[in-house]
Amino acid sequence: MRGNEEMENDFNNICFLFCSDPLNKRKPDIDYEEEYEEAKANGFDVILFSYEDLIEFGKVNVPLSEKISRVIYRGWMLKPKGYECLYNKFAEKNHYLINNPEEYINAHYLPKWYKNLEGVTPKTKWSNSVPNKEEIIDMLKCFGSKPVIVKDYVKSRKHEWYKSCYIENAEEKEKSVQVINNFIKGQVEDLNQGIVLREFVNLESIGFHEKSRMPISNELRLFIYNYKVICTIGYWDGKGLNEYPKFVDEVLEKLKKVQSNFFTVDIAKKANGEWIIMELGDGQVSGLQDYEVKRFYKDLINYL
Ligand SMILES: Nc1ncnc2c1ncn2[C@@H]1O[C@H](COP(=O)(O)OP(=O)(O)O)[C@@H](O)[C@H]1O
Ligand SMILES: [Mg+2]
Repeated sequence: MRGNEEMENDFNNICFLFCSDPLNKRKPDIDYEEEYEEAKANGFDVILFSYEDLIEFGKVNVPLSEKISRVIYRGWMLKPKGYECLYNKFAEKNHYLINNPEEYINAHYLPKWYKNLEGVTPKTKWSNSVPNKEEIIDMLKCFGSKPVIVKDYVKSRKHEWYKSCYIENAEEKEKSVQVINNFIKGQVEDLNQGIVLREFVNLESIGFHEKSRMPISNELRLFIYNYKVICTIGYWDGKGLNEYPKFVDEVLEKLKKVQSNFFTVDIAKKANGEWIIMELGDGQVSGLQDYEVKRFYKDLINYL
């Protein structure tokens, strides 16, 4: 694995990496086709790999690059092992993903970033693996009779809000354990490492989701490249904003402790008007919501 400083000097070549269509390895996955075309239209080399071959067989076909190149992946989330495999296969051929495996989990796994952002993000407890009933009850005790949100190290099942995400009162043990078990069952083998419980915070409500009825709040997603905010996106409407709340500048020093070259920060506005950090993500696997793809590439290129 190479250090960042060393990378900075000899990376002139930047290319973008996408997943191929599961049925045709020469075409991009349809969900990333627009990004693939946009990267190409901006003069970048684009590379495809088969996500299915990586996950099932640990196999990645990578073209050898004569010059060292820096690679920005835009695609499906990968478990740390899958990302490490992708990183190593590419590094063997002179292509270096923008975040090394450690930098990837620093923003991808909540327990990794939480320590740097305690106090500006809801109080959180997590287990090291899938907990049994006793361990769940022990975790719940930290929250008294407060409402709690359930997720794993990466994702929630927010669209099953009342079934697998929201616990109204952590003291109601049977009901709470049921929600957590529904979450565990629903995640099946997609469960990322362990269970995360977070104190529920009253957010400024802007409505309810059409299908799941989960409450929708005023939330923004910021893409951060080399610790500079490159764009701000309305999380639920995908609209781009030209500015972001002062809160972001106030927490930038804390965010600089998160070792990652490209990550996202989701922030949410509380009912009392203050902002909090909701979650972080690796910039390569965070969705653009409905933000305009052209605009995203323009924003990003400004900072490359
Ligand atoms: N602690 C919390 N307090 C209030 N609302 C929360 C809390 N945690 C999550 N939510 C709501 O649930 C949504 C999903 O949670 P999040 O942590 O972003 O998981 P996911 O990775 O599935 O998006 C958030 O966008 C927010 O609206
Ligand atoms: Mg989220």
